[in-house]
Amino acid sequence: MPETRSSQWYSGRDRNAYIHRAWMRRGLPDSAFEGRPQIAIANTASDLTPCNSHLDEVAEHVKQGVWAAGGVPLNLPVVSLGETQLRPTAMLWRNMAAMATEEMLRANPIDGVVLLGGCDKTIPALLMAAASVDLPAVVVPGGPMLTGTFRGTPLGCGTDVWRLSEEVRAGTLSEAAFLESESSMIRSRGHCNTMGTASTMALLAEALGAVLPGTAGIPAPDSRLLTRSHQTGRLIVEMVGAGRRPSSVLRPESFHNAIVALAAIGGSTNAVVHLLAIAGRLGVPLTLADFDRIGADVPLLVDLQPAGRYLMEDLHRAGGLAAVLREVVDLLDPDAIDVTGRPFVESLADARIWDPDVIRTRDNPVRSKAGIAVLHGNLAPSGAIIKPAAASAHLLRHRGRAVVFDSVEDLHARIDSPDLDVDADSVLVLRGCGPRGYPGMPEVANMPLPTRLLRQGVRDMVRICDGRMSGTAYGTVVLHVSPEAAAGGPLDRLRTGDWVVLDVPNRQVSVDVPREEFDLRPPSPALVAALARPGRGWEKLYVDTVLGAEVGADLAFLVGGSGDRVSRESH
Ligand code: FES
Ligand code: MG
Repeated sequence: MPETRSSQWYSGRDRNAYIHRAWMRRGLPDSAFEGRPQIAIANTASDLTPCNSHLDEVAEHVKQGVWAAGGVPLNLPVVSLGETQLRPTAMLWRNMAAMATEEMLRANPIDGVVLLGGCDKTIPALLMAAASVDLPAVVVPGGPMLTGTFRGTPLGCGTDVWRLSEEVRAGTLSEAAFLESESSMIRSRGHCNTMGTASTMALLAEALGAVLPGTAGIPAPDSRLLTRSHQTGRLIVEMVGAGRRPSSVLRPESFHNAIVALAAIGGSTNAVVHLLAIAGRLGVPLTLADFDRIGADVPLLVDLQPAGRYLMEDLHRAGGLAAVLREVVDLLDPDAIDVTGRPFVESLADARIWDPDVIRTRDNPVRSKAGIAVLHGNLAPSGAIIKPAAASAHLLRHRGRAVVFDSVEDLHARIDSPDLDVDADSVLVLRGCGPRGYPGMPEVANMPLPTRLLRQGVRDMVRICDGRMSGTAYGTVVLHVSPEAAAGGPLDRLRTGDWVVLDVPNRQVSVDVPREEFDLRPPSPALVAALARPGRGWEKLYVDTVLGAEVGADLAFLVGGSGDRVSRESH
């Protein structure tokens, strides 16, 4: 085996090598320092990230695989982000988690890394880190939770929270029943079981080639996840020997495949921001337009909530990602490789669909065209996105009067006000929720509908926002409007009563106000007053340096990578 990176710490007879070895001698055998690959297990297990709390057990099985293959496994707890607990939004710290993980991998005597993630932002952050340090890296997705049931009906995490809470507001479900469902929502360890962001990013990590094929989507409590963890531990040692790094695995063709997969599984809109950010770390020239160009005509084959009926346990039972992608293998780029070094499409050869209700065949898709649509227009000069599969068909072409909110607080204060001039044709607009404005680009775009309209039977309206939408949510929602209002995007000049036009078939979102008049308007004072103005700490660094959603909302100085260079000595 060629000399390892970690040998620059451990080999030799001088004082510094002595120090590096001596403090590590707490159970490690002498042979640990004789050139064996040192494998970090970047572990996002945390009691405050309940979706990832089981990853310590996963790490133990990765460790056994690493030992078995001749490596030395080292648990490396990294910044973890619990989607449901963090305020104002876990997204505010995705880049911080990525930066901290990148720095710790580079600063330590590490030759390769196994990335353990699950909850929404954790896998994107880990992949961004691995891309920038460019050490051999492989993801073990923690897996979705098992399906809980309430009164005999399966519950989709997230999705059914939105649905049931709307039913309470509509008067069709009692508050007592709603609260009773709370203890049924989360049946087991693992991440959300809908096709939300966590499920999406786990499956896309595999479609990118960053996961041992066949692993993503195995439910968290399933014993097969532990077997796969062991195999991944063996694999990373082999990857170090082969020098197989993110820069050689995650190529433009990998992102092509991920975008095809995103459409075929009906994945979360958040994947757009995450894939752009990961590509940015690798220098892969991915743009918003690529999502529409590659994904728009891909059929939706997976019938999962929030857009459909089933849940992640069903997807796994039905054949998993491989069975989905085999149906669209002609749309994949055959040149993409995966962490094994072999063409990714080879891993699909034996896949079968075991339940054609959950995974549809190519000739019987849920929808024939499923990709995320990228919109432009005078309301979104740099782009905006919408997921037609989660929208209402009758609203994809719509003209309505804007009802504008300057903050989520403003929205919640007025949405049910009897004075609010709103009807089913209105377009709800929420601004100041982009990366810079909030800060952190929270999942608030799926605004609650006015109770008055819910009681009339209205279940969807056109909504427009510079923020994100939970991957577990649904509705005709225009997201990630760029530039965001806080960066001077035209959303900041929109007024209640303006006519707004949404035309998804023609990829347009615009305001019908003469340009001369619109451009002369000052930004809304209430919006300006509501924007974040942090004075110190991470929030200040973030607001001062964050890029727009249309390029992945990374920090400007984190785009690209610094590789695995070894720094100067510490003593
Ligand atoms: Fe963690 Fe949904 S809250 S995956
Ligand atoms: Mg989320």
